[in-house]
Amino acid sequence: MGSLGISAFAVKPVFALENKMVKPVLLSTWDAGIAANKPAWEILKNKGRALDAVENGVMVTEASQNCCVGLGANPDRDGFVTLDASIMDEFGNCGSVAFLERIKHPVSVARRVMEKTPHVLLVGEGAQKFAVSEGFPLEPAELSEDAKKSYRDWLKQSRYQPVINIENKQHGPFAPSQINGEWNHDTIGMIALDMNGNLSGSCTTSGMGFKMRGRVGDSPIIGAGLYVDNEIGAAVSTGVGEEVIKICGTHLVVEFMRQGMTPEEACKKAVERIVKRNGAKAKDIQVAFIAINKQGEYGGYSIQKGFNYALCTPAINNQLINPKYLF
Ligand code: GLY
Repeated sequence: MGSLGISAFAVKPVFALENKMVKPVLLSTWDAGIAANKPAWEILKNKGRALDAVENGVMVTEASQNCCVGLGANPDRDGFVTLDASIMDEFGNCGSVAFLERIKHPVSVARRVMEKTPHVLLVGEGAQKFAVSEGFPLEPAELSEDAKKSYRDWLKQSRYQPVINIENKQHGPFAPSQINGEWNHDTIGMIALDMNGNLSGSCTTSGMGFKMRGRVGDSPIIGAGLYVDNEIGAAVSTGVGEEVIKICGTHLVVEFMRQGMTPEEACKKAVERIVKRNGAKAKDIQVAFIAINKQGEYGGYSIQKGFNYALCTPAINNQLINPKYLF
């Protein structure tokens, strides 16, 4: 074989990338990710499976008093908290639940859907029935005290107006005065690469505060709110779910990585697509993606300033990262 052929083969990145692989790596959206990363990182550090890490991690946020995730969150317009969640493993298995009421840990129900049913997505009453049959307790229907107050405030105007970066304005718990009674969403999404080099992801939310009853966002839609391809990478989204669904956001991010883009470049390209579709209206929309590739490279990008994510790597001990943004 000629020297040209040998050297062209020798510089192929396959083995080099394998050697460079950083693991484990863990990312989760917003500053609530700092608390969520703690149990997830313990699992990853102890050579546990990425799937277990991303489930246990976001359960912390589901159990916390949070405007945007779990049963303590803001209700829909009719005064009921409805939850969406999804999970995806290294084999491409996935499960999700949507419009689920009175169950504390929708992400774990999503995992049971993945592992114990032939289906991917269960919704509403059927999802709740399945959860109860799996031993998940039916929690009281009552709103948390904070959610009651914010709902009362919201009812004064009954206006729906997305508030950009509401997640960080509130730092998880409720702070109604900061947002004049206007409530929004969002999500905790978590993606991880474990010591075995396997990827998984999870996503859980109460969706947009004061949404129409029955509204479901991107979080339980595989390929929109969450996507994992163990050969390439994983991505998760946060922000206005309708916009993410319209571009199949996280699938797009993973496909951009497949084409050779870094995680940050892939996230940027996806948010640019949302901006292009929306023209001038994009100024009122926040969407962000975070992504990780098989080599342990990571990144994120948002439309608006103010998005952040919590990161753990062998060199970075659970730090908030402010990624780049378009506006
Ligand atoms: N990104 C969460 C939602 O729109 O429901």
